[in-house]
Amino acid sequence: MIREQDKSWVEETVNKIVEKMDWVSDKSKDKIPYTTVNGVHDDRSDITKTFGIDDGINWWTNGFWGGMLWLMYHETGDVKYADIARGTEEKLDKCFTDYYGLHHDVGFMYLPTAVADYRLTGNQESRKRGLHAANILAGRFNPVGKFLRAWNDGATDDTRGWAIIDCLFNIPLLYWASEETNDPRFKQIAMMHADTVMENFVRGDGSVCHIVEFDPNTGERVRDYGGQGYGDGSSWTRGQTWGLYGFVISYQHTGKQEYLDTAKKIAHYFIANIPEDGIIPVDFRQPKEPAWCDDTAAAIAAGGLIEIARQVEELEKEVYLNAAIRLLKALDKNHCDYGRENDCFLQKATAAYHSQEHEFNIIYGDYYYIEAMLKLKRHDICIW
Ligand code: GLY
Repeated sequence: MIREQDKSWVEETVNKIVEKMDWVSDKSKDKIPYTTVNGVHDDRSDITKTFGIDDGINWWTNGFWGGMLWLMYHETGDVKYADIARGTEEKLDKCFTDYYGLHHDVGFMYLPTAVADYRLTGNQESRKRGLHAANILAGRFNPVGKFLRAWNDGATDDTRGWAIIDCLFNIPLLYWASEETNDPRFKQIAMMHADTVMENFVRGDGSVCHIVEFDPNTGERVRDYGGQGYGDGSSWTRGQTWGLYGFVISYQHTGKQEYLDTAKKIAHYFIANIPEDGIIPVDFRQPKEPAWCDDTAAAIAAGGLIEIARQVEELEKEVYLNAAIRLLKALDKNHCDYGRENDCFLQKATAAYHSQEHEFNIIYGDYYYIEAMLKLKRHDICIW
């Protein structure tokens, strides 16, 4: 599928990734990193440093480091990666007893850790963890509105009726649970949620909104919010990628054609908006200045575009694959650090347009970058 002239670039890039992961996995083996402080991984599993109820051990990104390690275990066959990854998986057990800290992001947390472990090694303890997390997610379903509730209430917001585009990456936990137990309930919930998102989040032009609020009692759509993007009606790029990649995953698990069509529609909008230099802004509708970018959006989009290319007819593949390669080459050339000055690979990620910090290290940027490069090498594993 990949062009002859790109094969050596893929090979060299994966080698550089493996070399850095060999070093940094030893260095950060007792941590679950989210970002870096002065170039060094921080540790979200360190509960003596309370980041807050929702951003300590329960922090939604705490599965990605484990996921990077499982990808490396599969790539290299080195059991040290499995050992370190299992250590992170065991630390996450605290979330189950600290129930009030959990939210819908159990898919992001347990698919790249416990479920990856089970898929790769058959570990029965991991299977139990995955099924437990799936049950917690299924319990967040609002049967009248047919959506999964995203967050728990914060200090001021009533979020009982809030669903967010990101959850398309949590529902694969439900598909897995149905595949594993042969109980269709989990898949039914996942599909009802995906249908609600298709109807209420995807705009006519192929862009998507981040948050939609439903009335939790009647299920009626109340309004949408700009969320982590620039503002209401804008187009947060990482949200576009959760939609683009998320719908193709739902298609892979269900075969429902509308999911693939929706993934393609969002992809066409995304591709049409990629700037000349291939560097993705935080929001496609942000002002020209400040021109903040988000490497995570580029990496996630690339993975989703490669998956779409795998699903479509031969003649259609090139448009998606070429766009993915363009995004990954721009990251590789401009924003990726393969050296030892910094524990992370991608240097210019942004969590939210209006947050204090922009263009810093975020672990899931690294995860999706590695995942996409391994997809190009055709040596990836099913995480989602
Ligand atoms: N899932 C939260 C985010 O994408 O920032």
